[in-house]
Amino acid sequence: MRLKDLSTYDRVINSRAMISEAAEFFKQIPSLPGVIVAEENVFCGMISRKHLFEALGRPFGIELLFKRTAKEFCDLYPGKPLILEASMLIEDAVKDALARSPEEIYEPIVVHSGQNGYTLLDMQTLLHAQRNELIRLYNEVQKLSVKDPLTDINNRRGFLEAVNPLVQFASKTKKCYSILMIDIDQFKLVNDIYGHLVGDHVIRSVARECARMVRTSDIMGRYGGEEFVIFLPETMVDEAFKIAERIRQNIQNLVTYANGSQVSVTISIGISYMDRADSTLDSLLVRADQALYAAKNSGRNRTIIWDALVACNMRRDIVAGQTGISAEDNDCRQVDEARIYDETIEGWARALELRDRETKGHADRVTYLAVELAREMGFDDLDLVDIRRGALLHDIGKIAIPDHILLKPGALTEEEWAVMRQHPVYAFELLSPITFLQRSIDIPYCHHEHWNGGGYPRGLKGQEIPLSARIFTVVDVWDALTTDRCYRPAWSPEQAKQYLIEESGRLFDPNIVEIFLNMLKEITLSQAPILIQELFGS
Ligand SMILES: [Fe+2]
Ligand SMILES: [Fe+2]
Repeated sequence: MRLKDLSTYDRVINSRAMISEAAEFFKQIPSLPGVIVAEENVFCGMISRKHLFEALGRPFGIELLFKRTAKEFCDLYPGKPLILEASMLIEDAVKDALARSPEEIYEPIVVHSGQNGYTLLDMQTLLHAQRNELIRLYNEVQKLSVKDPLTDINNRRGFLEAVNPLVQFASKTKKCYSILMIDIDQFKLVNDIYGHLVGDHVIRSVARECARMVRTSDIMGRYGGEEFVIFLPETMVDEAFKIAERIRQNIQNLVTYANGSQVSVTISIGISYMDRADSTLDSLLVRADQALYAAKNSGRNRTIIWDALVACNMRRDIVAGQTGISAEDNDCRQVDEARIYDETIEGWARALELRDRETKGHADRVTYLAVELAREMGFDDLDLVDIRRGALLHDIGKIAIPDHILLKPGALTEEEWAVMRQHPVYAFELLSPITFLQRSIDIPYCHHEHWNGGGYPRGLKGQEIPLSARIFTVVDVWDALTTDRCYRPAWSPEQAKQYLIEESGRLFDPNIVEIFLNMLKEITLSQAPILIQELFGS
């Protein structure tokens, strides 16, 4: 084959050059998929880019060794990769490649006329086939570099590449645009409880639903693990808010069926918008992210506009300034207020214990276990505060149960049970008007709901039961079984464990039982009561 026949290929380099010289082509032309190596006028090989290797999922071409040591390279690509020093002559590299069997190293693309029996015609055919394959692979790599393989929407790079020209156009023409930053709430819990396979399904469903709801002119991308971004061209912030809220409400009603589980999630959304002609994409992405963070901090499953966040912070600073209170003092005051709230709640819990002596120490123990279990499941510190308060107050509704029922030594009649089953409702009525306890109400209201729908007061089923209540139910029953009651002595930890397993999927969320029992293994069953006693002095 003459060199002129090779001129249709991207780059040709003499085989007596060093590998490092071939490498220069790669550095200079990032889009170049490979370098054709030729000896005088004879094709003798191909050096491919690393991303072709990745796209194929198997070795392809001669991998170049630049900045990595041979060991690092082998660690990175298990198997038997061909290692070439940058100072090596290409022809030596080719010989080295030919000395190995194709299964051992790369695709048999390193060929030399006369040495391996290929005729010129065969080689020409092979070359054309390879070029077509390379073009196909290159297109595939290009697609992979901008698309997220899980959701098939733009990845971060694809999003930025698509949006950048639109932002420049908007700046020139003074057209407005808005950005939505979206994050799935408490996604870590989904992965922990249902596994990553289901987690991936949830990400796909959310991406699909968001993509379904945006306009054809909008550009959407997966920005990170469970984070999405949507660029809304020529969209004022009020319209962006309406779009965001529609998306948020639709996701709230979306149920993902995967691997035998039904999963519902919520999302938080931060919005930023172009407020000046010189707004940059970077600054608006940062603002949208800040607004998203604020949405998370104010309870999740909501949309916050960056402007509103700034106004809110400014208002707080002005109030602090007018009252002569510094920001630090203001923070201290909030900490003090939180402490007073908690002391009040603990007082209520103790008041109930005084009345219902059977449960002495029960509220402290179940609070400890519920918080530890929720922590194990990935709840953040803000959630743990709510769970702690809800657990302490879980039976607060019993203060409305008459003494002759609450303190009755024998079994309750059906009518008495009907009254007793009202205690979650009384708790709801008592706590719901108290603003700072509204995020803690799920446990007092729902801790007697059963996974199979057979509980009370509302007969909620499966994931209709709030997660914090499902967690609490497990530890509440565990503690009831493992402590002495007037009607029966305490069960051994092994008996209680067996009960939880037997009732898993009937009374209890099976995933939570599994996590709880694993957590107990770490504390060890015999240590648990001691730990709790030490912590709470009960
Ligand atoms: Fe209860
Ligand atoms: Fe309880």
